[in-house]
Amino acid sequence: ELAPAVRQQLQSLEVAWSLDSTNAELLRRPTPREGVAALLAEQQTQGRGRRGRQWASPLAANLYLSVARHFSGGLARLGGLSLVAGVAVAEALREAGFHEVGLKWPNDLVAGERKLGGLLIEGGGEHGGPVRAVIGLGINVRMPAPFAARIDQPWIDLANWQQPVPSRNQLAARILSRLLPALDTFDRDGLACFSQRYATLDVLRGRAVDVHQGDGSVQHGLAEGIADDGALQVRIDGRLQAVHAGEVSIRAT
Ligand code: ATP
Ligand code: BTN
Repeated sequence: ELAPAVRQQLQSLEVAWSLDSTNAELLRRPTPREGVAALLAEQQTQGRGRRGRQWASPLAANLYLSVARHFSGGLARLGGLSLVAGVAVAEALREAGFHEVGLKWPNDLVAGERKLGGLLIEGGGEHGGPVRAVIGLGINVRMPAPFAARIDQPWIDLANWQQPVPSRNQLAARILSRLLPALDTFDRDGLACFSQRYATLDVLRGRAVDVHQGDGSVQHGLAEGIADDGALQVRIDGRLQAVHAGEVSIRAT
């Protein structure tokens, strides 16, 4: 089901039974110089989110997918990568019939106010040279109740939202078919050609938000889309401020 051009780019496509984390596994392996390595797992025993948080990853229930590839031009250029990957994944889900999927900056896939999935970008590399990035994606497809009970924020899965749910294989194929070309475009041209597409998926735009800083302080503002480098633009006390993903959590109010 993969488009031939996409299949050609895939250096490997593997499904593991159980891993600590598909991101961790791809980080342990060498990444191909050209093309993409893709890894799926049926379960993760230490699925992870941002800043060491846990990602609930029960067996044979949801999608856990990571892809590794190199990007030219140094770390600074990767600022918008999670947004670009988010656009590709959200568009793939919309194409599969889940029309109300949105993106909550910087790395959440949402439906309504509830978390459907998330992206975790990890990696790094030499200064100036090509940078290796692992792009991890979790999407809730059919979350079993015992795991659901442990998620401490509003969440949703595809099965609870809308039937029929495509198989995880079909979902993965659709996602890779959108994601790989998007990563090529991003590597070549940066974020520019995604800003319009991001805007149509952006659930924060025009909404009041709280910006929670790492030091515990909170600022109130209005979300006004993203900047060229992927920062969230928030109007605080009349001034537009760039908020960078590493430092903050955003809560719509
Ligand atoms: P931020 O807005 O800063 O990203 P976040 O709470 O979304 O905050 P993440 O690191 O992005 O934090 O995601 C991890 C969090 O997501 C966990 O702390 C948990 O609350 C929630 N979570 C864990 N597993 C799942 C899952 N399978 N589906 C939905 N939410 C989950
Ligand atoms: C988040 O919202 O914090 C991002 C969650 C990312 C989860 C995916 S599942 C596949 C990959 N492997 C991991 O350990 N995490 C990502």
